[in-house]
Parts: sequence; structure tokens; C-alpha cells
Amino acid sequence: MKINLNPETAPESKIIVALDFPSVKEAIDLCDRLPQVCFWKVGLELFITDGSTILRELKDRNKKIFLDLKLHDIPNTVASACRVATKYGADFLTIHASGGKAMMQAAQAEVQGSATQLLAVSLLTSISASELANDLKVQMELTEYISQMVLLAQECGLSGAVCSPHEVTNLRSLLGDRFCFVTPGIRPTGAAVGDQSRVMTPKQAITMGANYLVIGRPITAAIDPLVAWEQICQDCVIG
Ligand code: C5P
Repeated sequence: MKINLNPETAPESKIIVALDFPSVKEAIDLCDRLPQVCFWKVGLELFITDGSTILRELKDRNKKIFLDLKLHDIPNTVASACRVATKYGADFLTIHASGGKAMMQAAQAEVQGSATQLLAVSLLTSISASELANDLKVQMELTEYISQMVLLAQECGLSGAVCSPHEVTNLRSLLGDRFCFVTPGIRPTGAAVGDQSRVMTPKQAITMGANYLVIGRPITAAIDPLVAWEQICQDCVIG
């Protein structure tokens, strides 16, 4: 594989691999099989299993951490959780924009000046337009609702948002170049789509303007995760 010596522009520095495992041992085993991966995502399953251990193990290995906890509670509670996340050195932490302005501002005040950047979850990708209208009683078109939530997050000082790669171009035009977009729903050409519905290849997502890609099963469930990782890095090269 051709190595790009500038880590900020190297395609591999844009890939966050999701450690969706039920145990710290399985997560760390994969981490040690893929020393090339510098950014790992810890989600709810692994965090509830043994959050402090996995965060410490990753930091001991000098890894960047995307802590995907999708926090949503009263402002004081979310702010306190954010304070703890900064102590563990989480690089990205997710909170729900629907928690409101006071919650996002309190959370942002806690991480200000630390290495932790907050990302907003605008609307879960599992929620359809009809659920939004009929169950959640939101009388706004789905893409408009997502735009409004992300704009509110930016107004509260958050650094970025998690969104579908299909939404990046539109959101980028509204939020500007300095806002960070992290996109799951990535599948290399020919990979199993699984339960993701609207996928893009790594290269397409980067071309659309995604800053980081979250990729799980195409790497973690591959027969040889190292081969899958190298293939994806090659696929990311633009031009
Ligand atoms: O295995 P796969 O590549 O589908 O994993 C995608 C990762 O991104 C999972 O950890 C999933 O929880 C996360 N995610 C997602 N869609 C969102 C937010 C997070 O797939 N809207």
C-alpha cells in the first residue's frame, strides 16, 4: 500500500473503525491486529461492558477515540458526562441535538479548551419520514428537520455532526467548511450492505465532503480485517 506521510491528508486518517464488540478482549484483539488504524469508535455495547477499561487501553496505544454515546438528558447531567469523557481523552463524543439548546450549550461549555470535540446526532437514521411525522409529530420535512438540528448544533458551538453521506453536500453548503461531518453507512464496492439502507463507497463519501468515515463490519467481520482495511484505504485515494 502506498503510504501518505502527511497524517492529516492520508486517507487512512479519515477512517474510524467501529469496535462493535461485546467484550474488551475482542475489541483489543482487533485493535492489536490492525496497528495501522489510528481512530476507533466505542459505542454503547462496549462502553456498557467496560467503558473505562477500553478507553484506557486505546489511549495507552495512542489511539484516537470516537465515543459514540449519543447523550440525551438534562443539561447538568449531560455536561457532567462530557466532563468525564474529556478526562478519558475522547476525541469525538456524540450528543443528540434534540436535547435542545441549553443541553448542547452546557455540554459544549464543559469540553471547551479540551481535546474533546462534540458531534451532534440530528436524527437517528433508523427513523423514517413517516415515523417523524406520525409518531414524533414533527410537522417538518425530514431533510429540513435534519438541517435545522445541525444548524442549532453549530449555533451552540458544537464542532460537527454525524450524518448520512447522502446528506453531506446539502449540509456542507449550509454549515460551511469548518464544520466536521462524520458519516457511517459506508460500504466498499461489492461489500454486504447488511442493515444499512442508503450506503456509499468510501471514495464517494469523501468526494461528497465527509471529513471522517465510520466503518464497522466491512472491516471487523472480514475474513482478513487487515486485507479489508488496506483495500478500503486504497479505495479512498481520490484522483
Ligand atoms: O458495521 P457498519 O459499518 O454498518 O457500522 C456502522 C457504525 O456506525 C455502527 O457502529 C453504527 O452504530 C454507527 N452508526 C450508524 N448510523 C448512524 C449512527 C451511527 O451506522 N446514524
